[in-house]
Amino acid sequence: MTDDTVTLEIAAPDDWHVHLRDDEMLSAVTPYTANVFRHAVVMPNITPPVTSTQAAAAYRARVLSAAGPDARHDFTPMMVLYLNEQIVVDDLLAGAADGVVFGAKYYPAGATTNSAAGGNDLLAFRPVLEAMAGAGIPLLVHAESTDPSLDIFDREADFIEKQLLPVVEQIPELRVTVEHISTRAGLDIVKDHPQVGGSITPHHLTCDRSDLLANGMRPHLYCKPVINSREERMAIAEAATSGNPSFFFGTDSAPHPLSKKEAEKVAAGIFNAPYALEVVAELFFELGCLDRLEGFVSHHGADHYGVERSPAKIRLTRRADTEIDPPEAMFTADGTEVRIFGADAARRWAWEAVS
Ligand code: NCD
Ligand code: ZN
Repeated sequence: MTDDTVTLEIAAPDDWHVHLRDDEMLSAVTPYTANVFRHAVVMPNITPPVTSTQAAAAYRARVLSAAGPDARHDFTPMMVLYLNEQIVVDDLLAGAADGVVFGAKYYPAGATTNSAAGGNDLLAFRPVLEAMAGAGIPLLVHAESTDPSLDIFDREADFIEKQLLPVVEQIPELRVTVEHISTRAGLDIVKDHPQVGGSITPHHLTCDRSDLLANGMRPHLYCKPVINSREERMAIAEAATSGNPSFFFGTDSAPHPLSKKEAEKVAAGIFNAPYALEVVAELFFELGCLDRLEGFVSHHGADHYGVERSPAKIRLTRRADTEIDPPEAMFTADGTEVRIFGADAARRWAWEAVS
């Protein structure tokens, strides 16, 4: 240990937004999440989408059996239904009452990977949303307009103004999460409404569109909503490090095979689960606010969702040297390569469970 080694203990973190997929990909990626995160809110955009309590329970069982031998003892996948016309309100309410279903996710049809089964108008789901509000079931939103006449970098703001704000104002009892915030418009609706929270990813915190486009186009940084300008990134970093309890960590880790990322039409999604915590720790270190890391990764989301804060702790250590060489790719059992985001931060940081 040198003098510049930094250590801190924080409550075990939660990932409030993750894609674990199915089959070989599920087996390969789930241990990375289960080893470090206590809760993982598992997105339902698999094929076919998870639209019933029965499907959610079956998917949860597959996730748990993929978690692997090193999973945290308290690893808890939290299952989400895919909001579309197949949802049956009574089934959603019963699934939530039984503790199987955590929330419902709205995807605008066509906005992102596996969103074809999504909706065209959020308010059209008003009866479901009102039932959710009554039962305390949160609505998770992919806030991105699909209007082809709109510039891609303006679509989060457009969706928020035209689709989300009316829902937030007309059904104020509904707890809402704006997922993977990419602009100030996303930050503002969270700041202005106490019932609205916002999840923030490692990549929207640390990259901007110049990283994506300026020095050779980087397909492994392509995700939805698309990483936006430097000004937006700095506002997001400011919100995440501000201590505002409405902002919390959701990795949006979204693995795709290399063949889909290095292609004529690049699949949207960044696989960051292996180093997500390290990336955020390094950012908070650089900004001189490591004392706020625990709030962002371990407390705020639990508070927003009314879940107990973790009594268990992990210890994070920042090395002064950067000699280790963390892998930048992962392979599934059938040999599919997936690139990993964040190896630079993983050179610096290590974590271990302490309780
Ligand atoms: C996600 C995926 O690959 O499932 N992709 C992404 O770019 N974030 C879907 C999503 O959350 O939008
Ligand atoms: Zn996602």
